[in-house]
Amino acid sequence: MTTSTALRAAVDVAARPAATRVIVVIQQKGGAGKTTIAINTAACSGRSAVQSEGPSPVVAAGTDVQGSLEKWCSAVREDVLPFDYVVTRGKTGILSELVQDPERRRFIVDTPGFMDVDPDAEWGEDPLGQSPVADALREVLDLADLAIVPITPSKITWDEAEFTIERVLKPRSIPFLVVINMHDPGKDKGEVQLKKVKAWIDERGYPRVSDPIRRYTIHEHAYENGAVVTEYKMSGTALNAREDFMRVALTMEQML
Ligand SMILES: Nc1ncnc2c1ncn2[C@@H]1O[C@H](COP(=O)(O)OP(=O)(O)OP(=O)(O)O)[C@@H](O)[C@H]1O
Ligand SMILES: [Mg+2]
Repeated sequence: MTTSTALRAAVDVAARPAATRVIVVIQQKGGAGKTTIAINTAACSGRSAVQSEGPSPVVAAGTDVQGSLEKWCSAVREDVLPFDYVVTRGKTGILSELVQDPERRRFIVDTPGFMDVDPDAEWGEDPLGQSPVADALREVLDLADLAIVPITPSKITWDEAEFTIERVLKPRSIPFLVVINMHDPGKDKGEVQLKKVKAWIDERGYPRVSDPIRRYTIHEHAYENGAVVTEYKMSGTALNAREDFMRVALTMEQML
């Protein structure tokens, strides 16, 4: 164990109940699917949780100032939302306190694409900058047991995924899991693009979810329709769409 993992372990044990795990969905590049993944993974995890009286053991947390997670979740009928949610709107202190609640077991935290990065930060230096948004992100990272890093078959997100892993997660010894999002089975004939992104991830030795989250129109409208995958129909495309997120939730649990 390196010194930093030893330190993290000491902090973690002191800070919260033994069964609690914090999962952060993080990727420097905006639009790779962080919010979609945070909400739907929380839905799958909450739907599979042991049923009991009391609050949901799964909490989705939104940390961006726009509160997009809140807007989405508040549009879902309360009786079908299988998790609780909280928004910090960039304020620090809220999550650190909440994770001490022994009835909560999983926190899945959505983060904003980070704009405030110091391009001149040396290797080994924290590139996150000094803004309140960066402080909020640092709080989440201090609590995190696992990071989920979304990447798309389109190359536009690859450099930022690597940056997020190499400059933000690895220096903090945070385990991570890469998930390919927005694979389009109709357009990517022969899975050419999918194979390329898988090879790129595997060359770097990054752990990844075996199969991608496919791109489906149903996800694009989920936000305005107040839908989560666990409420999708159990047939046809909707079932495939739901299965993709179930797989992410299952892989995530195996890494915790
Ligand atoms: N698998 C998918 N299939 C279809 N549409 C998707 C899929 N994943 C995400 N989207 C859509 O892509 C857009 C970006 O997704 P999302 O908002 O989850 O990304 P984000 O990383 O949270 O973005 P930001 O950095 O702006 O917060 C949204 O319109 C969302 O509906
Ligand atoms: Mg988002």
